[in-house]
Amino acid sequence: MSASPRLSTLAEGLRGSSILGIAAEVRSLVKTGHDVVDLTVGDFSSKQFRIPQELEDGIVDALRSGESTYPPPNGLETLRQTIRDFYVRRLALTFPLESVLVTAGARPAIYATYRALVDPGDRVVFATPSWNNDYYCAMLGAVPVTVACDASTGFLPTADQLRPLVRGARLLALNSPLNPTGTVFDAEQLLAICDLIVDENDRRGAAERPLYLMYDQVYWMLTTRDAQHVDPITLCPEIAPYVVLVDAISKAFAATGLRVGWAIAPADVIKPMNDVVGHTGAWAPRAEQVAAARFLADHESVDRYMDNMRRESAARLDAAYRGLVTMCADGLPVEAIRPQGAIYVSARFHLRGTTTADGERLATDEDVRRYLLHAAGVAIVPFSAFGAAADHGWFRLSIGAVSVAQIETALRSLRVAISDCVAD
Ligand SMILES: Cc1ncc(COP(=O)(O)O)c(C=O)c1O
Repeated sequence: MSASPRLSTLAEGLRGSSILGIAAEVRSLVKTGHDVVDLTVGDFSSKQFRIPQELEDGIVDALRSGESTYPPPNGLETLRQTIRDFYVRRLALTFPLESVLVTAGARPAIYATYRALVDPGDRVVFATPSWNNDYYCAMLGAVPVTVACDASTGFLPTADQLRPLVRGARLLALNSPLNPTGTVFDAEQLLAICDLIVDENDRRGAAERPLYLMYDQVYWMLTTRDAQHVDPITLCPEIAPYVVLVDAISKAFAATGLRVGWAIAPADVIKPMNDVVGHTGAWAPRAEQVAAARFLADHESVDRYMDNMRRESAARLDAAYRGLVTMCADGLPVEAIRPQGAIYVSARFHLRGTTTADGERLATDEDVRRYLLHAAGVAIVPFSAFGAAADHGWFRLSIGAVSVAQIETALRSLRVAISDCVAD
């Protein structure tokens, strides 16, 4: 008689993050004395990017004055008001206060969106590569419906690609600037998708549950000089009843460990999301909420911090991108996409089917990743970790934990390692 499983069906099917698996491999190499330039994690090193001083001081002050108890499950009213004002001032978007839900970073906002809108068996549409939608679908028992994107659209989906997939779908999950590619939607592209959603909901009428859009704009403050962030509600106000915006202080303020994020959505959607956050205790810590409210209302400090943040991240993105483009110009089998936002550069290494100086044949992207890690000491993540098909040669390079000098070292080592590979 076969033993019955000890765990739930969900637990049996869950997969851990493959990016964190690669990060663990990097840590063990570093521990054994290897020099590695770590371009894997979608995070920051506090040696390179520190949180704003005012935010740090605000948290210490809040804790010292006893702000250490449960916050209200939907967030402190001062923070919710500040977020509302922040969006009015910076994105010209206006919402009632009941539309703002504070969460412990962007992740619980995303999870609560799925829980509030998607039933097991419902179809969720998203593009690949993209960040973690496959895991959220697995947790919900939702059916992932994916569209494979390529470099011709900056790896972002178009309305034409999505049109055949939205019939009967419950949720479309979009993200811009996009993790892993560092590319952004332009207004025309996003507006066409908004029109598609509005048309689909008009077609459904009141008898059928609507199609919602979850728009994750957690990197929106980190667009590069020549790119502009666009959001669905500004472009297409009629779409507002169907949109959940997701955001956080995590990326713009290098504050991934503080855990303050939020969702903005129609009040009837926020209500069950609030319950999910409350029942799972996924609210942001109270002292961080107090400090975030104070900091986000201090526009001078925010602007000063963002000027520096954008300058420092652009210097790193430019260094990586220029280095890759130079390799390409020198005839090496490398491509790159000019970064438009976030902390990522998309790079393609056409090394599959080549043989290394040690005689190893590189047959897969995973072989290429491991070779570049061990031969060049450069750690990168293949797009397959973001749900894309394996072996098309595209990788994410993240600049949040490294200096420009480290990027230059990485580029020199990559050049040698790539030059050592011989095509058949
Ligand atoms: C697109 C995107 N959304 C959300 C998150 C999660 O953000 P948080 O750390 O605030 O949960 C990440 C983190 O990498 C991300 O890349």
